[in-house]
Amino acid sequence: MRTTKLRMVAVGAALAFVLTTAACSDDSDSGTPDTDAPSTDAPSTDGGDNGGGGDAEAGKTLFTASCSSCHGPEGLGVEGLGKDLTTSEFVKGLSNEELIAFIEVGRSAEDPANTTGVAMPPKGGNPALTTEDLANAVAFIRSIEK
Ligand code: HEC
Repeated sequence: MRTTKLRMVAVGAALAFVLTTAACSDDSDSGTPDTDAPSTDAPSTDGGDNGGGGDAEAGKTLFTASCSSCHGPEGLGVEGLGKDLTTSEFVKGLSNEELIAFIEVGRSAEDPANTTGVAMPPKGGNPALTTEDLANAVAFIRSIEK
C-alpha cells in the first residue's frame, strides 16, 4: 500500500513538473509572437483609421466590381492582365495615402516603372470612383496582403 501511494506521489510530482515545464515553454513560445502580433496589427489598423479611413468590407464590393477583372477576386492577379496585389512589394512599400494616389493615376504601359507591358488604368478604368472608394479598396487590399 505504502509503496503504491509513494509511487503515485512520485508520478504526480513528475506530471506536475512536466506540466509546469510545458506550460512555461508554451508561455515563452507564444509570448514572443503574441507580443509581436498586436504591435504589427495595431499600427496597420491605426493606419487604416487615420490614413483614409477605408472600409475593407465596402472595398471588397468595389474591388470585385472594378478591379477583379484584372487582379482577380482575391487580388491574386490574372495572367496577362493584372498583377498579384497580395504579395506585391510595391503595395507593401506604400502608405495608404500613397497607394490611393497611385490607383488614381495608374501606370501606363509606357511608364518605365511598368513591369508587365500592360497598363494599369487610372482608377482601374472607372473614373466614377471617389477618393473614399479608393480608400476602401486600399483597406481591402491591406486585408488580403500576405
Ligand atoms: C484593365 C486591367 C486592370 C484593372 C481593371 C485594374 N488594374 Fe491594377 N494593374 C493592372 C496592371 C496590368 C498592373 C501592372 C502594371 C505593371 O506592369 O507595372 C496593375 C497594377 C496595380 C497595382 C500595383 C501593383 C504592383 O505591384 O506594381 C495596384 C496597387 C493596382 N493595380 C490596384 C488596382 C485597383 C485597386 C484596381 C481597381 C480600382 C485596379 N488595379 C484595376 C491592371 C488593372
